[in-house]
Amino acid sequence: MHVLVTGGAGYIGSHTLIELMAEGHDVCVLDNYANATPEVLTRVRTLSNGQIADYRGDVRDAAILDQIMQDFAPDAVVHFAGLKAVSESQQKPLTYYDVNVGGTLALLHAMDRAGCGRIIFSSSATVYGEPDYLPYDEAHPTRPASVYGRTKLMAEQVLTDWAGADPGRSAVILRYFNPVGAHGSARIGEDPQDIPNNLMPYIAQVAVGRRPALTIFGDDYDTPDGTGQRDYIHVVDLARAHVAALDYAGRTPGVRPFNIGTGQSYSVIDMVRAFERACGQTIPTRQAPRRAGDIAAMQADPARAQAELGWRAQHDLDAMTASTWAWQSANPHGYDAG
Ligand SMILES: NC(=O)c1ccc[n+]([C@@H]2O[C@H](COP(=O)([O-])OP(=O)(O)OC[C@H]3O[C@@H](n4cnc5c(N)ncnc54)[C@H](O)[C@@H]3O)[C@@H](O)[C@H]2O)c1
Repeated sequence: MHVLVTGGAGYIGSHTLIELMAEGHDVCVLDNYANATPEVLTRVRTLSNGQIADYRGDVRDAAILDQIMQDFAPDAVVHFAGLKAVSESQQKPLTYYDVNVGGTLALLHAMDRAGCGRIIFSSSATVYGEPDYLPYDEAHPTRPASVYGRTKLMAEQVLTDWAGADPGRSAVILRYFNPVGAHGSARIGEDPQDIPNNLMPYIAQVAVGRRPALTIFGDDYDTPDGTGQRDYIHVVDLARAHVAALDYAGRTPGVRPFNIGTGQSYSVIDMVRAFERACGQTIPTRQAPRRAGDIAAMQADPARAQAELGWRAQHDLDAMTASTWAWQSANPHGYDAG
């Protein structure tokens, strides 16, 4: 199948390219490199021993989208391109709505013009907000607590209405939990351009000496060790969920959201201990008060993805931390070092 991957040079996109190519799909990338570098695609090509058509441009740009539709004629689109920093979204709401919602609209318009009716969308567990119950299933109410979360929910609503308007269309919404880890080659991985917003890359940068200590925000939550618990998922498992979702979209019209998590949750302390096992060092930590908006615990019910996509996570916590350490220690400055 011809698959257009927007944001394909990013963290999750790059791992997904490898899994798509391994399944024999032809891929094409559109990325503006707002949060990535072309070096990623060089490495993915080498790892996959394959071709990747790539276009540098913005997902909101109708002209480049039409060009890709004409040149590559995708059968389906996997839509990763977007902005994802929760705190930044509060400061720059219009930018986030523009890129995340406007980008999805521009893409769907271009797909309509080209007659492409199949899309897999990167959504987030953050659309659920404060839990009424855990684990979250897909029927849990959606009340996102941030601008970022609302842009994802709004894009989901656009996709739902788009898919509902024509029986030839299919939209699969993947609500990711907390992606971590890196490809087994240690050649690609997560490379935040700034201070990491997420726990795992932060711990990895402490371990490699780029930051002095991990700040733990809140140790008085109602959890066994008092620190926040999250459902971490290995990025390779997440990537494979997209391959399964493409198959599903090919046989199922309409729209369907799926939780993509493991169903297990780990605390900040659990993650630090697991990382210490992987890297053989002690990770210095310091305590700070809770951050506004953080919830105590969250966890996916991945049963629907197992039943309908035939997908389940294969990698355990030690595989997540070991692969992160392998990537970070081989590339202490991420892609910058070449
Ligand atoms: N990483 C997470 O924790 C997480 C969790 C849930 C959902 N998601 C979603 O998954 C998707 C991918 O996340 P990621 O972690 O790989 O992030 P990422 O920043 O590594 O990847 C996003 C890619 O999109 C590109 N991009 C950004 N704006 C663009 C634009 N206007 N036009 C073209 N390209 C653009 C960036 O350069 C980058 O390569 C995002 O939509 C994100 O919101 C991520």
